Amino acid sequence: MNTNYETLLFEVENDIATVTVNRPKALNALSEQVHTELNSLLREFKEANKDFSVAKGMILTGAEDKAFIAGADIKGMTTMTADEAEAFARLGQDNTLLFESLNIPVIACVNGYALGGGCEMAMSCDFIFATKTAVFGQPEVKLGLIPGFGGTQRLSKLVGRNRAKEITYSGRNVAVDEAKEIGLVVSIFESKEEMLAGAVTYLSKMMRNSPLAVYEAKRVMNEGNDLVVSEGLNVEAKAFGAIFNSEDMKEGTAAFVEKRKPVFTGK
Ligand code: CAA
Repeated sequence: MNTNYETLLFEVENDIATVTVNRPKALNALSEQVHTELNSLLREFKEANKDFSVAKGMILTGAEDKAFIAGADIKGMTTMTADEAEAFARLGQDNTLLFESLNIPVIACVNGYALGGGCEMAMSCDFIFATKTAVFGQPEVKLGLIPGFGGTQRLSKLVGRNRAKEITYSGRNVAVDEAKEIGLVVSIFESKEEMLAGAVTYLSKMMRNSPLAVYEAKRVMNEGNDLVVSEGLNVEAKAFGAIFNSEDMKEGTAAFVEKRKPVFTGK
């Protein structure tokens, strides 16, 4: 895999991939270059990791301590035409869809500001860990814009439509305690180091489970999010049946009966 990017860092350690948005001087703002590089990285990773051979979990974070991602790059947007802006939104949205469609869990580790596009990227991960200094928000209306990387859709699904409207129309900051209270953040950590270590511990424990089953749970839960319950149940029943053809299902149930630890292969 190409791991050489100007605006991103990518590393894999102990089966956990870490993607770091690396423009600390601009508070890791999402320029077109960041989104283009992220798109290449995620597409290549998705293809290479079909058999879980690259990584079994992923962390998305921002370089240094001040910001996770302070939004889309405002300077870059000042010269965009309407068509260019739409294409920029579609590119950013494609990256959110890529995170959602990866076959492994992705944890957003939010240090400092996660504003606008930063909040949107975090929301496309499976869940969010944050430091006690993290700040969330959709401040786009303060710039005469609206959210463009999924914020008008995903925030409502996470925190409820009316709370999402209140946050978006005001453009106000949401401090980390409130973010946890409303369900945006799962866990709060004292420091970035503790948060990253916490994410590694979480992912390492999860990796003892069948990677295939974890992926199917992710896929069915994400797909069901856009469906009425009866249709979601149909997707669930089909996936529940299909997984009975997997080696992991046979191994997991046999290991229980034989009172031993399962050895999952992701097949
Ligand atoms: N785009 C481009 N550059 C940014 C940026 C952004 N979103 N956020 C911060 N920066 C840059 C600043 O311009 C500054 O660069 P210079 O030193 O070259 O001037 C550097 O990062 C440090 O920022 P500040 O000096 O502003 O730092 P601060 O501590 O005073 O304030 C902040 C921090 C409150 C996060 C402030 O930087 C800020 O308000 N940033 C913008 C946040 C925002 O509005 N985000 C939404 C963007 S729109 C969007 O995301 C649309 C979408 O959904 C697609």
